[in-house]
Amino acid sequence: MTSKEKSNKSRTRRNDADRVVIFDTTLRDGEQSPGASMTLGEKLQIAELLDQMGVDIIEAGFPIASNGDFEAVSEIAKIAKNAVIAGLARAGNKDIDRAGDAVKHARRPRIHTFISTSPVHMKYKLQMEPGAVLDAVSASVRHARGYTDDVEWSAEDATRTEHDFLCRCVEAAIKAGATTINIPDTVGYTVPDEYYDLIAMLIEKVPGAGDVVFSTHCHNDLGLAVANSLAGVRAGARQIECTINGLGERAGNAALEEVVMAMNVRSDAIPNWTGINAEMITRASKLVSGVTAFPVQYNKAIVGKNAFAHEAGIHQDGMLKNTQTYEIMTPESIGLKESSLVMGKHSGRHAFREKLSEMGYELGKNALEDAFVRFKDLADKKKHVYDEDIEALVDDEMASADDHIKVVALTVIAGTGGPQKATITLDVEGTHHTREASGDGPVDAIFNAIKSIVPHEARLPLYQVHAVTEGTDAQAEVSVRLEEAGKTVTGRGADTDTMVASARAYVSALNKLQVKREKTAPGSMLAS
Ligand code: KIV
Ligand code: ZN
Repeated sequence: MTSKEKSNKSRTRRNDADRVVIFDTTLRDGEQSPGASMTLGEKLQIAELLDQMGVDIIEAGFPIASNGDFEAVSEIAKIAKNAVIAGLARAGNKDIDRAGDAVKHARRPRIHTFISTSPVHMKYKLQMEPGAVLDAVSASVRHARGYTDDVEWSAEDATRTEHDFLCRCVEAAIKAGATTINIPDTVGYTVPDEYYDLIAMLIEKVPGAGDVVFSTHCHNDLGLAVANSLAGVRAGARQIECTINGLGERAGNAALEEVVMAMNVRSDAIPNWTGINAEMITRASKLVSGVTAFPVQYNKAIVGKNAFAHEAGIHQDGMLKNTQTYEIMTPESIGLKESSLVMGKHSGRHAFREKLSEMGYELGKNALEDAFVRFKDLADKKKHVYDEDIEALVDDEMASADDHIKVVALTVIAGTGGPQKATITLDVEGTHHTREASGDGPVDAIFNAIKSIVPHEARLPLYQVHAVTEGTDAQAEVSVRLEEAGKTVTGRGADTDTMVASARAYVSALNKLQVKREKTAPGSMLAS
């Protein structure tokens, strides 16, 4: 029997006791990665997709951290159709009250409260004695239970915690009413056998352990996050905390796509299963990568550009004879379709709308019309228009729909002669402004011209260009990250002209920055 046949067979014998719930923390732990901050609209877009793909619990944010985080958790709680919505809180009442308030509109709200339990964290981070930490565990869980019956408790830095103390803390959390107990490998330090033993020991020794769900939360500092999570599940954990593309603090978290596909592909070896619709993995990966401007490593498992590419002649030959020679899963199983040629410049509105709907986009009448006009324009300039082109164009259109500043026209003089010059016309809240500026290269000149119309002090930590498809007529997708007074935003722009895409991306970032500023101090964007 081939492994595929074996896995199909065992899939039909799925046991409820082996079901693992997927807790996605892309919007909380993922967003904590430096530079990965997202706007409310982007968070809602990601949350909607996670909900659709069968994520059981979405950790939507850390409500006490900022008003923006609170609003995101609260809005996601209102739109989620199936998933439990969790808000993170430290052990204090203020944090828990804020989290309770943020998740209150969810059909299924959860408060996730945590405190550090390792000697190094208690001594230096918390400056608390173990006895006081133990008291805080009971008090925080009890307080959280005042808001919801679904309370998760985490022992931060659990894998470097003394076992006896960890057992006492877990017991206290269960007695106070926690329903999920999370054992984080906060610093990505553990190894699979050790993590297996830790979870198995807790389940065996702690009174009441049989009545709660144990959870893994593994960071990837040693590249072991997925292996550790699966070891935790083998020991009896039934919740995995993970993120799309493995986004997260430092080296990131266990990647959702990897844990899910390990269980799907090796169901002959791993009896556990999830409720995730794996065919939505590619879309989720692209969305998260696009929104954060964190590129996915080419050879990343499951979602890397090369994960299904077969370059070596000997491999290609094998693949042509039988795809199972070098492919343990099909591209279709993660929703990766062959890049298909889209309609040409003679295609009509109806075909365009059908195509968008097939790709999972539902646009309103005006947005559809604007996207169609841009598609026609693109089809005029570019010989072949692919799915990826449409994706880039529509994402760009959706992201800029409510923008107050828009690029109207751009002329650039570039080349060896220098100085490079740019003349730009921006529409700022309905009025056109034109400025010319020079710079150290055409991109610098464009950004200087924009800055003279919309002055600001934001730093530019990232300017990134990527070609959407192959060929010299490919669309460029540009990401620009701006940072101002602790606020970070990432703007995107797409066009066959890299300079136009750069201007759009910069303007998009400025629009997002303005939205963030408006929440604290409303005012004009224009140069006085
Ligand atoms: O890594 C960690 O310990 C965390 C906790 C807050 C769960 O993210
Ligand atoms: Zn974490």
